[in-house]
Amino acid sequence: MPTMLSLHSRHWFLGAVLMAFVADIAACPSYCICDNIQRVVTCIKKQLTEVPVTIPEGTKQLDIKGNNINIIPTGAFLPIPYLTHLNLQKCKIHHLAEGAFRGLGQLISLNLGFNSIELIYQETFDGLMSLQQLILNNNRIEEIRPGAFSQLGFLNFLNLDGNVLVYLPPLVFQGLQQIKYLRLSNNMLNNIADEAFAGLWTLKRLSLDDNELQYLPTEALSRLKNMARLDLGRNPMTHLGEDSVKMGSLKHLSLDNMSLQEVSHTAFIHSPGLVVIDLRYNQLQVMQPLEGLEALRMINLTGNPIQCNCLMTPFREWVSNRTKLRAEVFCSAPGVFRDERLDSLRTTDLKCVSQPSDHEDEEELNLQSEAKKNNQENQPCPEHCDCKHDLQHSSCEGKGLRKIPKGFPVDALLLDMRYNDFYLVPRGSFSDLKSLVSLHMQNCRIHEIHAGAFRGLKKLIYLYLSGNEISSLQPTTFEGLPHLTYLYLDDNKLTSIPKGAFKLLPNLFALHLEYNPIPQLTDKNMEGAENLRWLYLTGNNLTSISPTAFQPISGLQRLFLDENKLTAVPTIALMGAPVLNELKLNNNPIKQIGDSAFLPVAGSLQHLWLNDMGLEMIFDGAFDGLHSGLESLYLENNKLSNIPDLKKFKSLHTINLSNNPWNCDCPLLHLRRWIANTNVKVTAVCSLPENVTGLNVKDAPFKHCKTRLAGKRKGSLKSGRDKRKPGKAKQQNKKQKKNKVQYAVADLTM
Ligand SMILES: *[C@@H]1O[C@H](CO)[C@@H](O)[C@H](O)[C@H]1NC(C)=O
Ligand SMILES: *[C@@H]1O[C@H](CO)[C@@H](O)[C@H](O)[C@H]1NC(C)=O
Ligand SMILES: *[C@@H]1O[C@H](CO)[C@@H](O)[C@H](O)[C@H]1NC(C)=O
Ligand SMILES: *[C@@H]1O[C@H](CO)[C@@H](O)[C@H](O)[C@H]1NC(C)=O
Ligand SMILES: *[C@@H]1O[C@H](CO)[C@@H](O)[C@H](O)[C@H]1NC(C)=O
Ligand SMILES: *[C@@H]1O[C@H](CO)[C@@H](O)[C@H](O)[C@H]1NC(C)=O
Repeated sequence: MPTMLSLHSRHWFLGAVLMAFVADIAACPSYCICDNIQRVVTCIKKQLTEVPVTIPEGTKQLDIKGNNINIIPTGAFLPIPYLTHLNLQKCKIHHLAEGAFRGLGQLISLNLGFNSIELIYQETFDGLMSLQQLILNNNRIEEIRPGAFSQLGFLNFLNLDGNVLVYLPPLVFQGLQQIKYLRLSNNMLNNIADEAFAGLWTLKRLSLDDNELQYLPTEALSRLKNMARLDLGRNPMTHLGEDSVKMGSLKHLSLDNMSLQEVSHTAFIHSPGLVVIDLRYNQLQVMQPLEGLEALRMINLTGNPIQCNCLMTPFREWVSNRTKLRAEVFCSAPGVFRDERLDSLRTTDLKCVSQPSDHEDEEELNLQSEAKKNNQENQPCPEHCDCKHDLQHSSCEGKGLRKIPKGFPVDALLLDMRYNDFYLVPRGSFSDLKSLVSLHMQNCRIHEIHAGAFRGLKKLIYLYLSGNEISSLQPTTFEGLPHLTYLYLDDNKLTSIPKGAFKLLPNLFALHLEYNPIPQLTDKNMEGAENLRWLYLTGNNLTSISPTAFQPISGLQRLFLDENKLTAVPTIALMGAPVLNELKLNNNPIKQIGDSAFLPVAGSLQHLWLNDMGLEMIFDGAFDGLHSGLESLYLENNKLSNIPDLKKFKSLHTINLSNNPWNCDCPLLHLRRWIANTNVKVTAVCSLPENVTGLNVKDAPFKHCKTRLAGKRKGSLKSGRDKRKPGKAKQQNKKQKKNKVQYAVADLTM
């Protein structure tokens, strides 16, 4: 009976508390198994909703997998500080508070796999200073805040497999000074910043297989100086270009199950240490001898449609010249050699069909293509299209099709229909493609998209509609795309965005609207697109932006407004984007930048483009608030004769002042001083006064200024403080003006 049960359990609870006081060793909850000698406690699948901290204080290993602990609050483990192993697998955790693991300074292994964690905060893993293994596989992590791992200096294994990461920002793994093995398999990565892996000096193995990488992230990978093994299989790459693999210490490279059609003969030239290259199950028909691989022992090309003809002769020779190299290459054609090993053939066997006296081969080839055709006929694929069943890629690129074909394999992941003449995308065009991840319809002369056109594409992440003639969208255009993350609408004819057009895309992360003639952004344009991080509006016709335009997308990190017709910095609208990191305003006709223009984004802005604007004047307080965080500032090709003192910028590492008519008279002395004291490379040339025209600012004399220095400095004092909260620009502005006098006085007394 329920009452008896609850009575019973209350009894037990009191008892447990009492016991905990009396003797630590006895405090084992009835639903746990406690081994007091090994100090191991297991409470598996007990429907616990909280971490059982009433266990013996000295417990070293705690295994509570399979419970129902939704949230790990700050300091949850403070009562059991001696844990070395903690297993929280499958506990339905969706939120880890900042400081959740504080106090676990002896923890070596932490398993958080198979939960529903979405976000890693900067302070989530605070205090885990001994941690060696961190397992976060099969969660829903889509974002890792920079610095999240900065305290984990002893970590050597990090597993992030099976999450939904699409992008790795710069320095995301900073602080992992001893990491050996990093797993990122089975995410949705398609963009890796060049500096994403910076600082991982000790990394030996990296798994990036099963992602959405279309190109090898050459630069990012080249930062990994100690890498021995790299797994890149199952990414949708088609080419491996010259010099694309640049890892001097790499020994083992897996590139299997991709869509490679071509591998450059110099692809690996900067990775001379390679011992094994795995190219199994790609689309390679021919291979060339690979340059610069003296250490190579094994290349596996099993599962490629290798054509054993004269084009393979150099490769065959290259292999046989190297006694230590084993090459697993099986012929797929011509038919007489099918499934034969390449190295079992003589060089004279490798003939080309066009050579005379080769009727036999030609016949074989015909036979073979017929066989292929028959084989394809067994599985669905629309006419004029090519369906690679094993790769789940289908293509009807450039076939002049007037109607969107139907009847693709239902398990297709990628559908490429670029360069056709569809004109219209009717309702239900893709209703059976439930697995499709990526849909390419660039340059298809599409004028119109019917409501519900994309319905059924439940897994779609990438939708490419660039280069069409789309002039309007309906609020229902994007119905039925719950996972859409990247939407490309650039190079179309959009003149407006209807209110709530993106409302049905809760997962939209990047929206490309470049080169449309959109004249303004209004209030509700972005409603519903709450996860939008990157918004590209380059090359539109924008003259105004509503003050609340960005409010619905407050997580915006990148905003490109360059090449528009804005005449002022949209300061008030920026209040809706308090975590903005990159802002492009270049190539807008903005002549002046007033005080506190960027204050709403002061806490987060790192990169600012103000070049090519005909800019004549920047007020002394224009950069207020940006001084501690701004890293790059582009001011080239303007009409500036002076700028605010740069002395207060603490993180600035890139600045471009080229092509401005600098007036190298006393008011610019601060710039000369700053240039003399910085490591940042700066080019600024004097235009005035006439007797110094053409000199670099740093070489201009400014001689007569020295005596008047104090007076001049006073005049150009600025009012900025560095740490200001965004969102109150107007108020701040007033305050500043009041403060100005005080600052001036203070500065003079120093
Ligand atoms: C690679 O593709 C082949 C053929 O489709 C398949 O048998 C194999 O399991 C795949 N390997 C991996 C690791 O996905
Ligand atoms: C090459 O790949 C095939 C197919 O996966 C495999 O069976 C074979 O063992 C591999 N060869 C070597 C030497 O590893
Ligand atoms: C293989 O060795 C022979 C003889 O040394 C040489 O002539 C030929 O160019 C080599 N072929 C390749 C592809 O390295
Ligand atoms: C851009 O806007 C102006 C008015 O502000 C208009 O005259 C012009 O036609 C627009 N350009 C395009 C390409 O729509
Ligand atoms: C600065 O801008 C000028 C003019 O656009 C360009 O030529 C130069 O390369 C830029 N310098 C740096 C350091 O980016
Ligand atoms: C340039 O002219 C100013 C006066 O106009 C003078 O003070 C300064 O010394 C001159 N500088 C040089 C380098 O001749």
